[in-house]
Amino acid sequence: MRRQLVLIGFALGVLLWLAYRPAEAQQPGYIGSSKCARCHGAKYESYRQTWHARILRPATDEAVLGDFASTDPDLSFSRDDLAYVVGGQFSQRYLTEIDGELYVLPAQWNVVGSEWVAFHPDDWRERPYTKYCAGCHTTGFEASSGTWLEEGVQCEACHGPGLDHVALAGDRAHIVNPANLTFDGQTEICGQCHLRGHDPTGEYDFPTHYRPGGALTLDEAFIPTSDPDAFFPDGSSKRHHQEYLDWQLSPHADGVACVFCHVSHSRGETEHQTRFVGNHRCVICHEEKKDLAMHIPYHPLGEMVCTDCHMPTLAESSEAEYNFDFHSHTFWPPDPRVTIQYGGQEVMPNACNLCHTDESPEWAAQALGLEIETVSLQPTPTAPRPPTPVPTATPFLGLLEEDLVQAPARGSSLLLGLATGLGALAVVVALILVVQRQRRSEEGEA
Ligand code: HEC
Ligand code: HEC
Ligand code: HEC
Ligand code: HEC
Ligand code: HEC
Ligand code: HEC
Ligand code: HEC
Ligand code: HEC
Repeated sequence: MRRQLVLIGFALGVLLWLAYRPAEAQQPGYIGSSKCARCHGAKYESYRQTWHARILRPATDEAVLGDFASTDPDLSFSRDDLAYVVGGQFSQRYLTEIDGELYVLPAQWNVVGSEWVAFHPDDWRERPYTKYCAGCHTTGFEASSGTWLEEGVQCEACHGPGLDHVALAGDRAHIVNPANLTFDGQTEICGQCHLRGHDPTGEYDFPTHYRPGGALTLDEAFIPTSDPDAFFPDGSSKRHHQEYLDWQLSPHADGVACVFCHVSHSRGETEHQTRFVGNHRCVICHEEKKDLAMHIPYHPLGEMVCTDCHMPTLAESSEAEYNFDFHSHTFWPPDPRVTIQYGGQEVMPNACNLCHTDESPEWAAQALGLEIETVSLQPTPTAPRPPTPVPTATPFLGLLEEDLVQAPARGSSLLLGLATGLGALAVVVALILVVQRQRRSEEGEA
């Protein structure tokens, strides 16, 4: 009898372990996105199509886009050197393994433009991937060991470690739902990667201790760079992956989170996982600007969209002659006077002259009816005015502070624990009864 009980206990243990064992590389509390698929299958399938999920992949023929038959002098390595591929939407960089450490090979393939461009050709051996990049392209990264649980930005990068949530059959108290966080908490989840700077040790180019739901205190945990290579004189972004820093300067930092404009679990309605299409992305709130003829009377309407002027492509991703740059996220109205004040379009570009390259900033200022003498060097170019109401009838209702659902109390986890415990007890008792009955009938036969 006792032997059978031990066997039953052992079998139960194995079953539980099989169901909930964390993936190979053991990172505290992380379990891996394939485990989420079991209960959130639809989200998992659509999420896999996003660029987030695919930013870091093994160098399979399907993933590698670069032309390795090219005779471009910047291409100083061969296809065989590749261990991993980073990206593939705008550009692609390649990792090689040397003495157990990953390094970014010294040329990138620009997808737009189809050409090789040098990338840190002189110091690439001094820039290990685990210190310069990995925290923003992987999930469950552990700085102390330089290892990660999963390649790519996966579920737990935004929802935090999910081991307990899975083990407790979906207990809400053990997973972060960004919609239940404060406004700052929501955007910090995105901010952990969409920024630029160093951790306090200066060793890592990403925050190493941040977990979703915790605080991304930029002053303490992460020091944003003020490098003039990364910022224009008015403080807006010159380089890519700085959307959060731009956004913090923007009027939307007071009430429009990344997740209002961007969806998280699918490719979205248009490029870049946007929730809405075209001008609807903006006029859903800025109703009064719907009639562009009223808003920009000085301009032929043609194909003009809000983003042409309010989100110009100012942030560079590499030194290339063509434009595949990233959209500014300050949303500031173009102000050609700021360009004049800081010394021209090269130093401080404005949206008007990005298209009107044959014209001067003075021309643009004149077209806008602006007085050139009254230049203000304040980065925020706006005077106080009545606030634009944020609509309530939107698909994302977790936006407004007053709408926020409070994070579930611990009680739910206790109840669930109790229920699970009782369930398990019932199963064990049932098994014992079955075994005893069998024994009794065996004894009866004998
Ligand atoms: C065993 C099934 C199961 C697995 C596996 C699972 N979940 Fe869940 N999850 C649930 C259930 C059930 C709920 C709804 C709970 C409720 O409404 O009380 C839920 C809710 C959630 C929520 C919303 C929580 C809230 O407070 O609104 C998030 C976010 C979530 N899961 C993410 C994940 C992630 C990420 C993974 C993988 C690490 C995962 N889930 C794995 C069952 C599961
Ligand atoms: C880039 C960040 C991000 C990633 C990665 C991510 N989510 Fe979410 N998730 C969110 C946000 C933000 C919300 C809040 C509601 C919303 O915006 O959709 C959310 C909400 C949820 C919810 C609550 C139900 C709902 O629809 O509101 C579940 C369940 C969930 N996510 C599961 C997953 C699973 C499973 C994965 C991996 C396949 C995943 N998430 C990956 C950001 C993310
Ligand atoms: C762990 C790091 C990380 C987190 C967290 C993260 N991102 Fe990203 N994000 C990336 C990387 C890396 C890419 C580049 C993917 C690519 O283009 O290959 C990216 C790309 C994007 C894109 C462009 C997608 C496209 O199809 O072009 C959007 C939009 C975006 N992120 C928004 C968000 C939002 C909103 C959040 C928060 C809910 C968030 N990200 C959280 C790292 C992250
Ligand atoms: C602080 C976080 C962070 C760090 C550090 C970081 N990246 Fe990224 N990376 C991102 C984000 C976010 C994006 C997408 C959004 C953007 O570029 O504006 C991105 C985009 C990319 C892309 C373009 C992806 C595509 O599909 O076109 C490549 C390639 C890339 N990163 C490589 C690297 C390499 C190599 C390093 C290290 C030298 C690195 N990144 C360091 C966050 C980071
Ligand atoms: C008011 C709406 C809005 C908000 C808020 C917003 N974005 Fe965007 N974002 C957009 C639009 C629109 C695009 C696409 C522009 C296009 O393709 O024409 C975009 C593009 C992007 C891209 C793709 C690369 C690029 O710039 O072209 C990334 C990455 C991104 N956003 C990240 C973020 C992050 C992170 C936040 C929060 C810190 C954020 N966004 C907040 C509207 C918004
Ligand atoms: C040709 C460039 C251009 C286009 C296109 C454009 N804007 Fe503007 N926008 C400006 C300029 C310049 C200003 C500052 C002068 C002013 O207030 O009219 C501005 C100001 C604004 C303001 C603040 C104005 C205020 O009332 O204080 C908002 C909000 C705005 N635009 C939204 C939009 C929306 C939404 C769209 C798309 C439907 C759009 N803009 C399209 C150039 C443009
Ligand atoms: C996305 C590109 C784009 C942006 C940004 C842009 N324009 Fe234009 N603009 C055009 C095009 C295209 C025309 C039409 C040219 C034509 O029909 O000859 C035009 C025409 C004009 C015209 C009338 C025709 C002319 O050339 O005299 C004026 C004035 C003008 N723009 C001013 C501005 C100002 C001021 C801004 C910034 C607030 C601006 N534009 C931003 C593309 C742009
Ligand atoms: C969820 C609603 C919402 C969406 C979507 C939205 N905005 Fe806003 N926007 C606001 C709010 C709220 C403010 C702050 C208004 C205030 O302070 O008066 C604001 C402010 C602005 C301002 C500055 C106005 C000023 O007076 O300084 C500009 C410019 C602007 N938004 C442009 C855009 C553009 C361009 C888009 C689309 C890419 C967009 N907004 C999408 C709600 C939104």
